[in-house]
Amino acid sequence: MKRGLKTCALLVLSASSYAAMPPSAALCGSCHGPQGQGIEPLGPRLAGLSADYIAKQIKLFQTGKRQNATMQPMSMTLQGDAVYAVADYFSSFDVPIVTPHLRGEKAVYENPTEQLVYQGDWQRVIPACVTCHGPSGLGVGEFPRLAGQQASYIKNQLIAWQKDSRSGDQDGVMGTIADKLTSAEIDALSKYFAELK
Ligand code: HEC
Ligand code: HEC
Repeated sequence: MKRGLKTCALLVLSASSYAAMPPSAALCGSCHGPQGQGIEPLGPRLAGLSADYIAKQIKLFQTGKRQNATMQPMSMTLQGDAVYAVADYFSSFDVPIVTPHLRGEKAVYENPTEQLVYQGDWQRVIPACVTCHGPSGLGVGEFPRLAGQQASYIKNQLIAWQKDSRSGDQDGVMGTIADKLTSAEIDALSKYFAELK
């Protein structure tokens, strides 16, 4: 009896430090990890993204603005309030802390990838990634976190914008940027952000 009570108290303690998993999130966890930490190559990390961003992406998959053979049927399993319950749940988990580097911290970036990230390329009208994605790509609201996301996933997204199979963001801003990147730059940027963890 005494033991039973102790176990019970422990369970309550550990459950209260995380959001409770809504039933509709169980399926998602099989590819994205039960706490949204991501399972490469099954599904990208969802923890660290804002609830608004996650909810918006679910709707983009549902309406076909974002095309993906796996996520289209998955998104359809969520309707109404379930979209927000699941988005709140996955956004509630912490991700590793990264020391933020700011835009223009250095006058000259010798590494061309760092230059794109922190300064952009004025000649090609590519704004620095961190102007929108936050210092070191840590994410701010509707601008998703890139730091520590899987490289293969980041790469696939930039290619999806180039192929027009992903859209739905304000003024098509990411498509315009992705169209200007070479495949070598896409590889290097994906690796750069994935390694910031
Ligand atoms: C069978 C594996 C699988 C399951 C189950 C699954 N997903 Fe996904 N999910 C993926 C893959 C793969 C992608 C990347 C799609 C792409 O490249 O556009 C993805 C992408 C996403 C994204 C976009 C992330 C971003 O950074 O933009 C969200 C949000 C998402 N899934 C939510 C969910 C939710 C919510 C569920 C449960 C209803 C779910 N997924 C179930 C595989 C899965
Ligand atoms: C003007 C603002 C802006 C700039 C600059 C910008 N982004 Fe984005 N980016 C966005 C927005 C907004 C989204 C979310 C799109 C959506 O809601 O579907 C996004 C999404 C992304 C995603 C998808 C992340 C995910 O979780 O699916 C990747 C990858 C990305 N950006 C990479 C980059 C890279 C690399 C650069 C620099 C070369 C860059 N972005 C510069 C606004 C920007």
